[in-house]
Amino acid sequence: MKALVYHGPGKRSWQEFPDPALIDPTDAIVRVDAVTICGTDLHILKGDVPETTPGRVLGHEAVGTVVEAGTGVAGVRVGDRVLASCISACGRCGYCRVGRYGQCLGGGGWILGHTIDGVQAEYVRVPFADTSTYRLPDSVTDEAALLLADILPTSYEVGVLAGRVSPGQSVAVVGAGPIGLAAITTAKLFSPSRIIAIDKAQARCDAAKDFGADASLPPDERCAEQVMAMTDGLGVDVAIEAVGIPETFELATRLVRPGGHVANIGVHGKPAVLHLEDLWIKDVTITTGLVDTFSTATLLRMTAAGRFDSGAFVTHRFGLDEMQDAYDVFDRAAETGALKVALFRT
Ligand SMILES: NC(=O)c1ccc[n+]([C@@H]2O[C@H](COP(=O)([O-])OP(=O)(O)OC[C@H]3O[C@@H](n4cnc5c(N)ncnc54)[C@H](O)[C@@H]3O)[C@@H](O)[C@H]2O)c1
Ligand SMILES: [Zn+2]
Ligand SMILES: [Zn+2]
Repeated sequence: MKALVYHGPGKRSWQEFPDPALIDPTDAIVRVDAVTICGTDLHILKGDVPETTPGRVLGHEAVGTVVEAGTGVAGVRVGDRVLASCISACGRCGYCRVGRYGQCLGGGGWILGHTIDGVQAEYVRVPFADTSTYRLPDSVTDEAALLLADILPTSYEVGVLAGRVSPGQSVAVVGAGPIGLAAITTAKLFSPSRIIAIDKAQARCDAAKDFGADASLPPDERCAEQVMAMTDGLGVDVAIEAVGIPETFELATRLVRPGGHVANIGVHGKPAVLHLEDLWIKDVTITTGLVDTFSTATLLRMTAAGRFDSGAFVTHRFGLDEMQDAYDVFDRAAETGALKVALFRT
């Protein structure tokens, strides 16, 4: 088969790779019908994720068809159309039993395209197939389902639910990439009174408005003051960080009002300063986390009911063989305007 293989920082190739085979009875082999690239794949390619070693097939967001299932798989059958989620779950460990699959101790968690070969390939081995895939109804297209593999559950769980967005509240979303835009989309499920997006790229500020932000601002020196002016001088109830650099985390903690929540989604590679000298008296709650994907089934029902406009996220479409071109377009998002790129089996 062909697969996108990581060869160390800055190096990737779409090349011949051995077909995956069943290893454990709970595995399934899935033929990849649609797949996307994540900002996290770019982090790996920069060398920011050392657990991902050269020779690894990347990718953790795909939709496909089961072509082989181990003897221990009961919930999916050959021929089923499934979502392969970014998080795998053994289903049995203490964390899985409380829905915290991201922290799985039984061999799951974020493994696909990280510590085992991923989904940017013609075929992939999916461990714990019963508890790590979701059968898709016909009413959900491959393209719409791709958003359920990572960006919608991540923004909803780690941003909106952890930040406790509730009706009438004000929300700031720092960073309007796919994750920030998905945070705007899922925050709106709770009818906040105001959503303010902050991004250094004008195109992303414009996209945030299209996705339903009431205001969008660049992260300049006037930004915090403007947010205060829009929120009775107090700041927002919930500040969601969706970039992953020290400046944006620190900005999120400056924008939050007393009693509010800061929900960090960004993957950070450097230490950020926690200004406890300002924050200690403000009764703020700060949360961070890896997505668990406990909300995937709920978001899938909403997708099937037409509650999300998936077409707004997918800006570029390719054939699977055009993987390298898709990476180039996604990597130059500032010039190309790419949000999510989708690749389809041809
Ligand atoms: N916690 C999780 O489980 C999880 C899961 C998936 C992704 N992530 C992380 O979420 C973050 C966002 O993902 P994405 O795919 O949307 O990334 P992205 O790179 O596409 O988007 C980031 C956005 O931040 C903006 N930005 C950069 N510097 C800025 C600054 N100083 N001020 C304001 N805006 C700035 C960029 O213009 C861009 O629009 C990444 O760190 C990603 O790794 C976390
Ligand atoms: Zn991802
Ligand atoms: Zn587990």
